[in-house]
Amino acid sequence: MTATVHAAPPEQITRPPLREAEACTLIIFGATGDLSRRKLLPALYDLQCAGGMSSRCEIIGTGRTPLTDETFRGRVREAFSDMKDRPHTSGARWREFEQRLHYLAGDPSDVASYPRLAADLDARRQAGGNPNRLFYIATPTSLVRPIIEGLGAAGLAKNDAGWSRIVIEKPFGRDLQSGRELNRVVNGVFAEEAVFRIDHYLGKETVQNILVFRFGNTMLEPVWNRNYIDYVEITAAETLGVESRAAFYEETGALRDMVTNHLLQLLTLIAMEPPVALDAGALRDQKVQLLRAIRPMTVAEVKHRTVRGQYDAGAVGGQHVAAYREETGVQARSNTETYAAIDFRIDNWRWEGVPFYVRTGKRLAHSRSEVVVHFKRTPQALFAHAPETYLAPNQIALRIQPDEGITIAFAAKRPGDDLRSIGVEADFSYAESFGGKAPNAYATLLLDVMHGDPTRFTRRDEVDAEWRIITPIEEAWAELPPPVFPNYEAGSDGPAEAKELVVRGGHQWRPIAPPRAGGAGAA
Ligand code: BG6
Repeated sequence: MTATVHAAPPEQITRPPLREAEACTLIIFGATGDLSRRKLLPALYDLQCAGGMSSRCEIIGTGRTPLTDETFRGRVREAFSDMKDRPHTSGARWREFEQRLHYLAGDPSDVASYPRLAADLDARRQAGGNPNRLFYIATPTSLVRPIIEGLGAAGLAKNDAGWSRIVIEKPFGRDLQSGRELNRVVNGVFAEEAVFRIDHYLGKETVQNILVFRFGNTMLEPVWNRNYIDYVEITAAETLGVESRAAFYEETGALRDMVTNHLLQLLTLIAMEPPVALDAGALRDQKVQLLRAIRPMTVAEVKHRTVRGQYDAGAVGGQHVAAYREETGVQARSNTETYAAIDFRIDNWRWEGVPFYVRTGKRLAHSRSEVVVHFKRTPQALFAHAPETYLAPNQIALRIQPDEGITIAFAAKRPGDDLRSIGVEADFSYAESFGGKAPNAYATLLLDVMHGDPTRFTRRDEVDAEWRIITPIEEAWAELPPPVFPNYEAGSDGPAEAKELVVRGGHQWRPIAPPRAGGAGAA
């Protein structure tokens, strides 16, 4: 039973116009790669269409493939027309976007590429181009270090006539040691305030709303602790498989790909203490503080409190799909996990004893990211007439995607002349209250970089704190005998062991539900 809550009549809610970004020349390493085609270039186009991009911004794609500006533009057009929501690739807006796109061939692992890039940027500047430089590394992780070093050696990291900033995609290293080493190299070339480590979950509207929901409402704070909260679930389920990213995924796995960053970030926003201000320093200080309160696990704890899975063949959305081990580019006996579930514990006064169950997986029944906060039962079953009418505890579900919104489950009186209760839900839906499509997370974050605002990016010590938690799990998994893979069917809710993980604590996962009609379509 559901009641809809409107924040305000929809017609009163208008989005403020975007603050136009500072003009800059954006240089993309890996411009013909998957990330650029699917996320980055569409986000830049969105930004332009929403009025956020200065008319003086130019975009230079770089990569090993020799291309002319024209062929690069053609490839971008082609990539856009393959997308589900097909951005327009005709008309004045598209022409304006196309004119911004340029291409410069260069091997990022070859030091000789960087003086050529510097000369190209210089020539553009002398011809009236913008002196601010924004480098975006959208390449495989192995190229991050040579790119940073190449930029440093060619003098491109210096702020001279304009600023120089760098965006780095996760994973930031493979473990605590390599993460530290990478950060040492990065900060040896770029000052920390010029480094933007991107985690696109932090650009999602619904993820940012966790902060507003928690710290913009007084009713939550008194109950937001171990006295009232029984457990928390954090899920990022995907129907997608490994797609064309087998080489990356075989090396990475679900834990590094999703938990180290996106899921730990969600956990942090749910569990951290209120910051003294919403600026980059105060907010990230609190996040680091929380991450440090998660005790790294021993091997025995890893055995008991983590589950890994790998998908078998099955049916997703009515279509037969292959097992992970049968995907192109995946080894026939691969032990890479495509699913991970972990019972995290936070050692602080607020959360002592409260499990934070986190799970993520590919080829699951439905695509859904959500946080569900489960409250404790009422101390007495006052309205229970029979065991089956015992009241279900309160729940708050924060739906990150799809059908973005928040649902609060509580008990109400069932109509009739006796005092029987029934579970009902109050539902807030972004689509119903605000209409339209949620802004693209990458566009939001790119705009932040252009404005020089690092609040929604991962700080160096935050990366360190994340690896401190994840590395012992990776190490224990490498040491322990691997599970018998595959251990879950594509199209299911994941391995049976993940169910046991929470049942042992007397808890349950919420079933991974299909999308409701009319989500706001966050990116
Ligand atoms: C990326 C991961 O960071 O996030 C992918 O590398 C995953 O494996 C993706 O598919 C999920 O993002 P979203 O925005 O679709 O939830």
